[in-house]
Amino acid sequence: MGKGVIGSHLIVLVALSIQFAYVFSLTIEGQIGINGSTIINKWKITELPNGCDIFEGSWVFDESYPLFDSSACPFIAQQFDCLKYGRLDHEYLKYRWQPNQCNLPRFDGLDFLNRLKGKKIMFIGDSVSHNQYDSLVCLLHAAVPQSVIVQETNKNSISVIFKDYEVSVTLFHSNYLVDIEMEQIGRVLKLDSIRNGDLWKQMDILIFNTWLWWYRSGAKQPWDYIQAGEEILKDMNRMDAFRYGLTTWAKWVDAAVDPIKTKVFFQGITPSHYKGEEWNEPGVRDCSLERRPLNSSNYPGGMPLASSVVNDVLSKISKPVILLNITTLSQLRPDGHPAIHNGIGGMDCTHWCVAGVLDTWNQLIYATLMS
Ligand SMILES: *[C@@H]1O[C@H](CO)[C@@H](O)[C@H](O)[C@H]1NC(C)=O
Ligand SMILES: *[C@@H]1O[C@H](CO)[C@@H](O)[C@H](O)[C@H]1NC(C)=O
Ligand SMILES: *[C@@H]1O[C@H](CO)[C@@H](O)[C@H](O)[C@H]1NC(C)=O
Repeated sequence: MGKGVIGSHLIVLVALSIQFAYVFSLTIEGQIGINGSTIINKWKITELPNGCDIFEGSWVFDESYPLFDSSACPFIAQQFDCLKYGRLDHEYLKYRWQPNQCNLPRFDGLDFLNRLKGKKIMFIGDSVSHNQYDSLVCLLHAAVPQSVIVQETNKNSISVIFKDYEVSVTLFHSNYLVDIEMEQIGRVLKLDSIRNGDLWKQMDILIFNTWLWWYRSGAKQPWDYIQAGEEILKDMNRMDAFRYGLTTWAKWVDAAVDPIKTKVFFQGITPSHYKGEEWNEPGVRDCSLERRPLNSSNYPGGMPLASSVVNDVLSKISKPVILLNITTLSQLRPDGHPAIHNGIGGMDCTHWCVAGVLDTWNQLIYATLMS
């Protein structure tokens, strides 16, 4: 490569960073009263003095939803493709999240791609990250279906690249964020170790999640021992292990992330719907008969215990991390899960149909980036 090529790369980089700074300083006047400079420096959006808590609100019926036709999206994994696998009711697709204090911008895929031109977005986490990744990729695909879109598969990740916009969306699979390693004694869950961070920190937007796997046991538990510091244990209190692993991740953020380059989100705890008493239907044991959202801003079952661990750990990070506080709004949607309408069999009241509730999670990321 000659000097000229390197020179022009540099110019592109400079132009991109100027554009990036611009993206995050825009304010949508009269809509979200979030002060952009504040939001980037605090994880508790609720504490913004002149802001609006976009996570507090209710679901309203909206004839103009869903935001895309799932049958036209080539990127939906079979476990989330509810209409394809026989879900007959369509009303669950027609709800829009309405914050109590302000309005959200409608998700605009073309605007998203234009503003994030040249950026790399990565979801890191378990199957719920996969779920949200599928939703985002479909939202963007629906905006520019005729453009050049390429899929790429690597060892731990899959990507969809919107070539015409130089935007890549990647899913990096990691159930615990911390590592599992094969050793002589067996598979060891290493609560102090994050080995993939060098790749993660090259991204422009990171959306992390981990929770579902921390209580797995028996055949579904993908490790034999757990290592905390020097100690190797057969098992430990799982909530303590979750806190420990998440703290390791938090330390990694503080040590490795350059906040000028990279925006970090953490996705709040995802709720499941297997205990009807949580939503005032005692005796109900799954989500199969749910057809509409709860008509409320509050979930009778309250916040899951793990949420307070997330809050604790995030409050100790000094770098800016935005909590995507989707727990309550998702709790209000027992109708949003695949139930038996998935391509892998079984009753699933943990993941979410695509299209559906997760389009709102992505709309909230969009709203946060635009404000
Ligand atoms: C955002 O907050 C900063 C610091 O509190 C303040 O100086 C600035 O004027 C605010 N900007 C807007 C648009 O409200
Ligand atoms: C998350 O949102 C819920 C519902 O609005 C609220 O009760 C809770 O305090 C929020 N959590 C944080 C950490 O902001
Ligand atoms: C929720 O309840 C209010 C008041 O009872 C009612 O006006 C509204 O139509 C209900 N909304 C939905 C989506 O059921």
